[in-house]
Amino acid sequence: MTQDLLLALDQGTTSTRTIAFDAALAPLATAQEELPQHFPAPGWVEHEPEDIWAGTLATLRQALAGAGGDARRVAGIGITNQRETTLLWDRATGRCLHRAIVWQDRRTADHCARLRAEGMEPLLTGRSGLLADPYFSATKLAWMLENVPGARAAAERGDLAFGTVDSFLVWRLTGGRVHATDATNASRTMLFDIRRGCWDEDLLRLFRIPEAILPEVRDCAAEYGEMDAALLGAAVPLRGVAGDQQAATVGQGCFLPGMVKSTYGTGCFALLNTGDAPVASRARLLTTIAYQLGGRRTYALEGAIFVAGAAVQWLRDGLGIIRHAAEAGALAAQADPAQEVILVPAFTGLGAPHWDADARAAIFGMTRGTGRAELCRAALESVAFQTRDLIEAMRADWTPSGETVLRVDGGMVASDWTMQALADVLAAPVDRPTLRETTALGAAWLAGVQAGLLPPPGEGGATHWRLERRFLPGTGTVAASRRYGLWQDALRRTQGRLG
Ligand code: G3P
Repeated sequence: MTQDLLLALDQGTTSTRTIAFDAALAPLATAQEELPQHFPAPGWVEHEPEDIWAGTLATLRQALAGAGGDARRVAGIGITNQRETTLLWDRATGRCLHRAIVWQDRRTADHCARLRAEGMEPLLTGRSGLLADPYFSATKLAWMLENVPGARAAAERGDLAFGTVDSFLVWRLTGGRVHATDATNASRTMLFDIRRGCWDEDLLRLFRIPEAILPEVRDCAAEYGEMDAALLGAAVPLRGVAGDQQAATVGQGCFLPGMVKSTYGTGCFALLNTGDAPVASRARLLTTIAYQLGGRRTYALEGAIFVAGAAVQWLRDGLGIIRHAAEAGALAAQADPAQEVILVPAFTGLGAPHWDADARAAIFGMTRGTGRAELCRAALESVAFQTRDLIEAMRADWTPSGETVLRVDGGMVASDWTMQALADVLAAPVDRPTLRETTALGAAWLAGVQAGLLPPPGEGGATHWRLERRFLPGTGTVAASRRYGLWQDALRRTQGRLG
């Protein structure tokens, strides 16, 4: 039987999705299940591992059914996932000892503050490319080993397995035969030396993590074992794994140094391909692995902002000034150009490159004439201003040889107004692809390359990326640049709020 299907499983923070693609990477069927969130204490965020597993199986089955239903036609499954989220399970039973601690969870903030106070950050950053922040897996895993009764002893006996979501799913899908992760997910744990490409003994010692619980680290396109045949009806091979932002980088075809993608979901993640050498950031960006193919690592600088689409949700659910997210762009277009209202959406602090957990949101420049339209424009422009902050930080760290072109994806990019505002604020072209499901596309591409259905990059790779529309800086660029100055001023005043 011809193997002409690829399944991309995207296990995200708020939902689990599977998309079935044909061998030319055209999507055939999509399935999605919401993932319940648990907030057991202020700042804590957890997922029930069995919900992750149930959503995975359900969406794999639904998407396969939508594409004809025969698992023997599947050449490979690619897995992509919310990164950093931490799981610990019993190797004998496959049961998790605790709910997954989600990347957004801040319970280990004190541990991170201690690490900074003890002068450990240079070691952490030097080895892992990351910052001493609760965002990453290491302190979450250390917390589980300290706080779950019996966990440390069991871990030291080698009875437990640790993994990010990809690794947990590979374990479950292969019936416990494979305990592996890929280099991109490993690079988000703060336990991995991104230069040598291996778990780091010093970091393991610092966080008191027994080596016996760690997964084996593989390429993004690699054999991850065969699925338990009982699950889908055939022993489908698992052939690709990458963290979701890295999968989007691959899906956007950002295979050359200097190429940059930005994904706009609740927040926004931008990754700049810096080639085969990691670039240490002076601008407080993260240094991370973009992908590892054929044993070769390609690196990226990454910037994350916490509020992108969430600013539009706030307009809708917090202020009630729009009914649907899609209305924001149309209203913004009607804003009075003479009013220069600036929103700093620091509802949960500020991410890269500011990393100010205490900053809070503020609106500047309102007059008696300020209305819904001006607030919509301020919310959408705040996404563009934050993106420019990231791009400026990237330029400070690493000078690309050519012009910056931003490849965009995620829900917000449907708004033409926002994409034009982005091009104006960046004074750079913004490229929107035809297929906006770039995360799933990247996972399918990895599995397709491993299955031999698709060429690796360099041999005519990236042919899966097609431009739908390029937004060029336009007549709004001068005004946007002036407002960017106002934004920087507003940002300073917001950060000074508590001082
Ligand atoms: O680093 C966290 C990121 O991977 C989460 O992505 O799309 O699940 O919010 P998402």
